[in-house]
Amino acid sequence: GIKPDEFMNNKKSHEVQVMSELVDSIANYCGIKQVIDIGSGKGYLSSFLSMQYNFKVYGIDSSSSNTNGAHERNRKLKKHWKAYQSRGRENLKSQSLDKANDRPVESKINCKAIHEELLNNASSLQNQDQVIIQDPSYSSTDMATPETNTETEADLVTGTQSHETKLSEDVLAVLNVLPADAAEDFSSSREKEKVLRKMTSLKTKARKSSESNLYFPLTSCITAETELNGIITDLEDCMVVGLHTCGDLAANTLRIFTAKPEIKAVCSVGCCYHLLSEQFENQEECHNQVWGFPMCQYLKDKGWCCGRNARMSACLALERVAVGQMLPTESLFYRAVLQVIIEEIYGVTKSDRHVGKTFSKSSSFIDYVRQSLKKLELDDSKLPDSCIMDYYEKYKHRMNELEAFNMLKVVLAPCIEVLILLDRLCYLKEQENIAWSGLVKLFDPVKSPRCYAVIGLKNQSC
Ligand SMILES: C[S@@+](CC[C@H](N)C(=O)[O-])C[C@H]1O[C@@H](n2cnc3c(N)ncnc32)[C@H](O)[C@@H]1O
Repeated sequence: GIKPDEFMNNKKSHEVQVMSELVDSIANYCGIKQVIDIGSGKGYLSSFLSMQYNFKVYGIDSSSSNTNGAHERNRKLKKHWKAYQSRGRENLKSQSLDKANDRPVESKINCKAIHEELLNNASSLQNQDQVIIQDPSYSSTDMATPETNTETEADLVTGTQSHETKLSEDVLAVLNVLPADAAEDFSSSREKEKVLRKMTSLKTKARKSSESNLYFPLTSCITAETELNGIITDLEDCMVVGLHTCGDLAANTLRIFTAKPEIKAVCSVGCCYHLLSEQFENQEECHNQVWGFPMCQYLKDKGWCCGRNARMSACLALERVAVGQMLPTESLFYRAVLQVIIEEIYGVTKSDRHVGKTFSKSSSFIDYVRQSLKKLELDDSKLPDSCIMDYYEKYKHRMNELEAFNMLKVVLAPCIEVLILLDRLCYLKEQENIAWSGLVKLFDPVKSPRCYAVIGLKNQSC
């Protein structure tokens, strides 16, 4: 039989569940049955959306090995889906008994909309000037208790009524702010209940018929100019989603959304800000290129630039540090001392080559330096171990300075991340055909630090 961790780990499972719920709700309100998952990777989100929610899903990824892996995973899922579903239900039942006196089985997602009064007042937001921060605050017991794979499996396959209802309520809190022409108005609680019931019954139906509903993995490198019709022959009214689309791919997903009339909604969670291309980073102007940052005219007019160091900082995870997880200070220290060695011994200050992820693969500082020098194509044969260690000893006492520097970077990280996210949101708000757009904190940032989704919905008439 198939093991649950062959499907996805706890982090991915958290992301996929929460995002699928939101995608399902938005797509239902827009009357959409087709979903395009851009940068679909191994297809975790795609297959969940197709099998659990019965959407027709196309997953597009630039890596053919990902697409091949997705085909293989699809094959396994098809074979084991029924057993997987019933085992999930069994596990859920036994967990409910085991933990009756302990804590509920479902993840305690206590999503609290900060702007509740605004969320309940859809009409005040028709001019789309609101950023929503939906704050999933997780109980400390949940953070301290590692989830087991069994929990993941059970949650994924069946969920519990209360878990689903809770998520649906949270999704509704987001949908509450949509203007009248983007979705129905859910201001009264009776209407909310009606919609919740409708959604639950739709999902039950979908689950019953979804046993062999597999998604279609496709290989293509998406750019801002990509014509989806060229890749998907039966493109219809659809929603575009992207889970942890790195660098420019998140920006280009939004551009494709605004350009293509068939795409009625978008939900994009970006990552890897260090990979973004920046228009104003280098002095040489290149007018034709489409850049990852800035996207919006407002920041373009001001010539805004983050720079690589700031974008690297934006990838740090403040919430993880806040719960005691360590920053990578030692690896930064290794890299800093290596820089001194490269400059003083080899006289090199710039190189096209990269050290990459050498730290995690090295057994000691000496090993790190030697591996790095090889990658940089610098001859280490005349460099004795003692010399390498002299550098280490010379700078060891300054490690605390790096720690402080790292702390400063991690504290500032959210400012840079939010700048990048607001640029994307501002871009959507500058478009005329968008009925509603918002920024939603979708995931628990300790589990999944890149947790913000940029969401957009077109006017119904577009
Ligand atoms: C961080 S992974 C996320 C994968 C998947 N969405 C998930 O959550 O598991 C980003 C994916 O985007 C793909 N990708 C990057 N640039 C792309 C592009 N221009 N077009 C299509 N896929 C791209 C990569 O191959 C990679 O699989």
